Amino acid sequence: MRINIAVLSGDGIGPEIVTQALNVVKTVCSVYKHDLHYESALVGAAAIDACGNPYPDATHELCLNSDAVLFGAIGSPKYDNDPSAKVRPEQGLLAMRKKLGLYANIRPVVTFPQLLHRSPLRRDLVEGADFVCIRELTGGIYFGRPQGRSEDGNTAYDTCVYTRDEIERIVRLAYKYAQDRRKQLTIVDKANVLSTSRLWRQVSQELENEYPDVKTEYMFVDNAAMQIIQYPKRFDVVVTENMFGDILTDEASVITGSLGMLPSASIGVHTSVFEPIHGSYPQAAGKDIANPLATILSAALMFDYALGLKNEAECIRKAVDKSLNEGIVTEDIAVEGKAAKTSETGEWICKQIKYLYKFS
Ligand code: IPM
Ligand code: MG
Repeated sequence: MRINIAVLSGDGIGPEIVTQALNVVKTVCSVYKHDLHYESALVGAAAIDACGNPYPDATHELCLNSDAVLFGAIGSPKYDNDPSAKVRPEQGLLAMRKKLGLYANIRPVVTFPQLLHRSPLRRDLVEGADFVCIRELTGGIYFGRPQGRSEDGNTAYDTCVYTRDEIERIVRLAYKYAQDRRKQLTIVDKANVLSTSRLWRQVSQELENEYPDVKTEYMFVDNAAMQIIQYPKRFDVVVTENMFGDILTDEASVITGSLGMLPSASIGVHTSVFEPIHGSYPQAAGKDIANPLATILSAALMFDYALGLKNEAECIRKAVDKSLNEGIVTEDIAVEGKAAKTSETGEWICKQIKYLYKFS
């Protein structure tokens, strides 16, 4: 099969982890005999430095014309503490989401038996946890207008907006995921306070009877924040609006034991984007110490969701599992004194993929 991907490394550790994930993609394509084409483009602070725009038109064109986008991370300390900065790297990410119509961000939360001891939560609480967060990604307070400051600068405002269509689209997608899993959907909102949340609940309630095989529950976001940590095993599919999803998924990453392990897929109208949920970790940039597994697992999601190649995805996941078993992992999850470098981890996984294929 001909596979056409755009590679957007971004900032900080982005280039290092994406290099490893791309090597994994190349290895999988070579063993499974796919015709891989890829091209890189600028995004984030790297793009601001090069051309003043965090999501340049050329990058957008490339994404539009690809089957999938492999994405690293965005963000640079250069911009973080400067509230007056006119362009910010994160705007590149938001522009990409909006322009590519990436309305659904899928973040699977699973535990790895090898890493249970890493979670700050009790083993018996997290062992076997396996749920998916589906975050609406192109609406809500991230994009609502007006947004800004009053003339005197002493008042600031953001606006949360949702339309029926936006809600229906994401809730339907969540129901489909639930139907393919354990048939349980938790719809998270703040309907006791926010009118956008009340519309979410109304639209969801209208859809509910179209999916009688799925058990639907509604939960306020503050309660959900508590339950995700206290009883992670009770969830199957969780769907929520943009900002609630942003917060709940960072929280949920704690269950896994390392932010460096969680992949994500952003499903869109024009193409889809695969990226780790962690940030650009600028302190580690260039040191060859960052954990590439979340990006490598994002590449597995790409084979699964964007390309429909289940065996290839499974092969990557098995190789990652092997690296955890053998302890060929970076310092964030390694046994003291036994850490592998980012590049060593990636190279080991590529070798493992060839091995697994040969004996499959
Ligand atoms: C995420 C990130 C982004 C977000 C930032 C970098 C704008 O936190 O993808 O979760 O808030 O959506
Ligand atoms: Mg976030």
